[in-house]
Amino acid sequence: MPALVIIGAQWGDEGKGKVTDFLAREADFVVRFQGGDNAGHTVVTGGNEYKLFLLPSGVFWPDVTSVLGNGMVIDPAVLLDEMDRLRAAGHSTERIRVSHAAHVVLPYHRAVEEAEEDRLGEGKIGTTRRGIGPAYLDKYARIGIRIGDLLEPDVLSAKIKANVAFKNVLLEKVYGREGFSAGQLIDEYLGYGDRLRPYVTDTSLLLDGALNDGKNVLFEGAQGTMLEIDYGTYPYVTSSYTTAGGACVGSGVGPTRIGSVIGVIKAFTSRVGNGPFPTELHDETGQYIRRKGKEYGTRTGRPRRMGWLDTVSLRTAARINGFSWAALTKLDTLAGLPKVRICTAYRFSSHVVSAAPTATTDLAQCEAVYEEFDGWDEAALKRARTYDALPASVRAYVEAVEEATGVEMRLIGTGQDRTEVVVKGEIGFGRG
Ligand code: IMP
Repeated sequence: MPALVIIGAQWGDEGKGKVTDFLAREADFVVRFQGGDNAGHTVVTGGNEYKLFLLPSGVFWPDVTSVLGNGMVIDPAVLLDEMDRLRAAGHSTERIRVSHAAHVVLPYHRAVEEAEEDRLGEGKIGTTRRGIGPAYLDKYARIGIRIGDLLEPDVLSAKIKANVAFKNVLLEKVYGREGFSAGQLIDEYLGYGDRLRPYVTDTSLLLDGALNDGKNVLFEGAQGTMLEIDYGTYPYVTSSYTTAGGACVGSGVGPTRIGSVIGVIKAFTSRVGNGPFPTELHDETGQYIRRKGKEYGTRTGRPRRMGWLDTVSLRTAARINGFSWAALTKLDTLAGLPKVRICTAYRFSSHVVSAAPTATTDLAQCEAVYEEFDGWDEAALKRARTYDALPASVRAYVEAVEEATGVEMRLIGTGQDRTEVVVKGEIGFGRG
């Protein structure tokens, strides 16, 4: 079955970009199906580091078609800028396709989000302030503007006028902020439509044809399972379906066509924004991991909150996504620590529990129960090209994660570069 779905198992920033890029060597299509430019993917190739916010990570492989699916919310200015930067670096943008049904993020979405986060003060969600939540809000309120609308001057003009009239009341009268000029937005967004026109299509149809022709299709999730609107730590979540099911609704591909679901798990945990985090480290070790792993938000530059690996929440992720196997990333970041820990259970209300409580307020009361392991040396880790050549303490860690989650770790990330990966077990599309 030639369709694979890649999903972040934690709170985003698990290293999905690198795993997607690695698997994209066998892919014909790489598809994003949710979220917007709240995501940040970093891909390092040939010593150059690229930050992608909207484009799928496979965009660096010349034969890959990159698809932005209907489940996304797209800021066209960001997308066009990303395409310009890619071209300037010598990469082609000809194989990019954007769904006509994806929604458009407009400046009033960002302004409303900014105003609302500021109003919430201490109680804020800690969003990326890219207008993602308000764009999805308009989608579900059925007043959203879709990418296809950018190509229809009359439709766009009427929709922007109606939306701006309402958003300006909200911004000016409720939040005491400045509103927007509908005329200016119409001109600007028609301009984006003109530039995007060659890329816009019915991507569900495109992917159906590709799958019928036996092409390999890779779905690249953004954010992570614990940030999902339903199964994440609500309300401290993003606004989209970040889990495996989201790949189908967000791309117009039926569930029976998905072959495998791959979880991406970082060897420790990070989170940006507010919300409960049972394994959070507030000490020197947390700072060491943050510094070593360059753990700062790709989108916002905010220092990420750091913690040990949490297999209680990973079990939830494995269940909801139905992982076929997983990639364990950034083992090099933990290198140099004498001891490393894995959370195996929570202490909650004087009981030890192996599953997370359903209420976010209860999760905030949970204390992590840990198992401790020996650390490893970075040089020995990086030297290894096969699983058996990895230091014994690394293998013990990997196997403990496998046992606690019931998921096999078939890719092990030992460094930032494309080549720093150890393969353990069958991966990919089963080609060749
Ligand atoms: P939003 O997606 O901007 O609405 O933010 C909602 C929550 O998701 C906040 O906690 C953000 O920090 C978090 N978030 C959104 N995108 C990412 C990401 O790509 N990585 C990690 N956290 C993210």
